[in-house]
Amino acid sequence: MPGYAVIGGQWGDEGKGKIIDFLAGRVDAVVRYGGGSNAGHTVVNDKGTFQLHMVPSGICWPGVAGIIGNGVVVDADVLLGELSELNSQGIDTSALYVSERAHVIMPYHVLLDELEEKARGDAAIGTTGRGVGPAYVDKTGRMGIRVGDLLDIEGTLRPRLEQALAFKNALITKVYEHEPLSIKDILDKCSEWAERLAPHIQATEQTIQDLLAQDKAVLLEGAQGTLLDIDHGSYPYVTSSSPSIGGACVGLGIPPQAISGVVGVFKAYSTRVGGGPMPSEIFGDTAEGLREIAHEYGTTTGRPRRIGWFDAVAARYSNQVNGMTGVVLTRLDILDGFPSVKVCVGYQVNGKAIDRFPSNTSLLAQCEPIYEEHPGWTEPTASATGISQIPANAMSYVRRIEELIGCPIQIISTGPSREETIEVTRVIP
Ligand code: GDP
Ligand code: IMO
Ligand code: MG
Repeated sequence: MPGYAVIGGQWGDEGKGKIIDFLAGRVDAVVRYGGGSNAGHTVVNDKGTFQLHMVPSGICWPGVAGIIGNGVVVDADVLLGELSELNSQGIDTSALYVSERAHVIMPYHVLLDELEEKARGDAAIGTTGRGVGPAYVDKTGRMGIRVGDLLDIEGTLRPRLEQALAFKNALITKVYEHEPLSIKDILDKCSEWAERLAPHIQATEQTIQDLLAQDKAVLLEGAQGTLLDIDHGSYPYVTSSSPSIGGACVGLGIPPQAISGVVGVFKAYSTRVGGGPMPSEIFGDTAEGLREIAHEYGTTTGRPRRIGWFDAVAARYSNQVNGMTGVVLTRLDILDGFPSVKVCVGYQVNGKAIDRFPSNTSLLAQCEPIYEEHPGWTEPTASATGISQIPANAMSYVRRIEELIGCPIQIISTGPSREETIEVTRVIP
């Protein structure tokens, strides 16, 4: 039963989309298990450049199914818009399936995301504003609307929506003093979504179980990153789902034995969008220079990403949470030409050195990085396709990161395109 997971090892945007597109030709299906349209996965190949928020990143491969699992929260407008755009670029999306158990991001979720963030003031999380958090709140609060409900508007959807909207409008008008939302407008939207999504809606849990039972390979696509995990990240500056590997079983309806490999994707440095502690964050010319060279602006919101050196304490923790079988190191090329590069190997807090990622967020915010400095390299790694093209100093940097994470590096990525990739050891047979 070979399921292979590709998940974020840091704070998201590690380059998961690129790596999934690189690997997807070897599997029968690529399946998303969590998050929603807060994700922004970039795929660059001979068919074009794609920014995918809802559609799984293997979509450019003919014959590879794309599945949005039950653990995902679905923005139907974003999904349908993405499907139309893909079709206009000549990509076949007929094998795209959405779980009937997945929850729907409703217009009131998007509005509440905005209103709640405003109300948090200085303590704002810096969400992507896509309604993802409020949609998961309703899921766990048992007030959510599921994709399958769209197919039974009068019998299921209308009564559930009436109940949910009564609660939401009370909150929207009384707490936030905002205009209420109209049930008619929402039901009209739902009818449109139902009509257009119907051919794609399935019991995807069974589809995936059947594929695995037939020994077909399935690639599990992580969204966000482990350090944004609702349980294991720097709470409350996290997303509202479980991007770490635990979320995959729940978010797809598969057993843990179905997962043969867990590949963690890490950038060769760190970035983070939104609020929350980031011990190895850097400021000033180096950070700004790197942001511009690397164009570190959010795929979903366009916000500038915060920049930091590679944080090996956080990376080792991420490996512990996920039990990684391999690591992918992306964006090594961005560090080309730096006189030296630093790696955070420990934290200093209250005069004491620690080598563990604290669960207490205010303690994490007080952590000062302890750095190890490595000589840079002048010859480029950009676009390298073989390990022999990697300069010696860059390779020792890679090997040191591997040692610190405690997991073999299987892929080094040297550019955004599919072919700018070095597979050191084969990830999927
Ligand atoms: P994801 O959310 O993990 O899929 O990552 P994003 O797509 O949000 O951000 C990663 C960015 O880095 C995208 O613009 C990718 O095209 C780009 N990218 C991925 N791998 C590499 C790489 O090795 N080198 C460079 N220069 N860019 C890369
Ligand atoms: P991908 O899949 C980077 C961050 C937001 C914010 C926090 C909560 O592209 O790696 P949310 O909208 O989820 O309630 O916001 O999580 N965040 C991401 N950061 N990449 C992502 O996804 C993210 N998804 C959410 O910036 O700090
Ligand atoms: Mg992204």
